[in-house]
Amino acid sequence: MLLELARTKSILFFGGKGGVGKTTVSAATALAMAKEGRRVLLVSTDPAHNLGHLFDREIGPKPVRLAVNLDGLEMDPEQTVNEHLEEVAGSLRKLMAPHLAKEVDKHIELSRDAPGMQEAAIMERIAEVVEHAAKEYDLLVFDTAPSGHTARLIALPEMMSAWTDGLIERRDKAERFSAVLKNLGNDKSVGNTIFGGGDGDNPMDSRENQIRILLNRRRRRFSDLRNALNDPERTSFIIVLAAERLPVLETIELNAQLERSGVRVGGLIVNKRLPDGLGDFLTERRTQEEVHLATLKEALPHLPRQDLTLVAHDVVGLEALERFVQALKE
Ligand SMILES: Nc1ncnc2c1ncn2[C@@H]1O[C@H](COP(=O)(O)OP(=O)(O)O)[C@@H](O)[C@H]1O
Ligand SMILES: [Mg+2]
Repeated sequence: MLLELARTKSILFFGGKGGVGKTTVSAATALAMAKEGRRVLLVSTDPAHNLGHLFDREIGPKPVRLAVNLDGLEMDPEQTVNEHLEEVAGSLRKLMAPHLAKEVDKHIELSRDAPGMQEAAIMERIAEVVEHAAKEYDLLVFDTAPSGHTARLIALPEMMSAWTDGLIERRDKAERFSAVLKNLGNDKSVGNTIFGGGDGDNPMDSRENQIRILLNRRRRRFSDLRNALNDPERTSFIIVLAAERLPVLETIELNAQLERSGVRVGGLIVNKRLPDGLGDFLTERRTQEEVHLATLKEALPHLPRQDLTLVAHDVVGLEALERFVQALKE
């Protein structure tokens, strides 16, 4: 199921609780597609990075070669926040009069630990990757952070473009207001401290333009991302879970959350299923798994599902990952 789905998409997101196997399954899928000749970029957006552990090597925020046709990168949340704030600060400095630069810095410092800041920064990076990497790669595979976080992330483009639209609207109003003042012939005498100005028309106009270009670029980037996420032909979200009670209930909830934000779930991977015929205890445990999976099937009958068996060893290193790819094909 998974590989057939992957073949037809250009963007895949893997989500689910910590420890269920998102990193393993997304890396195996990426490797399988790379082996079929597609150029694949594997991206980890989980602050608890484990792509590096899986491939047993250092992976940073810039793409590194992991196998033929396969590159990978890990978004560093802290660095991402810093870059994001630097960009926002740059925009704000343009937006405000020069003497308010100190205020901008203070605002940025306060924002650093604001709730949602990491998500916003990571979303910005995802938007960037989708915008730029689409030219160099045939498939982008995102190994995302645990459930709740992911859904919030996915809902963000909407919030971010709403924020940008608000700013643009306010600027439009401010512009109309200042045009009226100009017509009254006293544009120089009115204090325009927040939005700068008062230093001649030309610098003011060019600042206006810069701001507008900046806001529009941001808006375009987020609406492109939103379009990509909402296009089921291009993008699929895969939920990875274990055959246990809470993960099943959380999967049903995550599916609902994603649907509300217009993101279609393409399939479910039930990982670490107990193998059959291993004595009474495990057989009983396996029967228990079946009970939970019956709940899942009843709640989400339309979603394709693939089960992967628990293997004896952790999946570490390229060889182990290649064996895992075989399991995906079974
Ligand atoms: N089918 C499987 N059988 C046995 N171990 C597995 C299986 N899938 C994943 N693992 C192991 O489970 C641990 C968590 O997997 P990982 O992919 O890092 O989960 P996540 O990214 O969802 O936190 C890792 O040690 C991995 O090797
Ligand atoms: Mg992981």
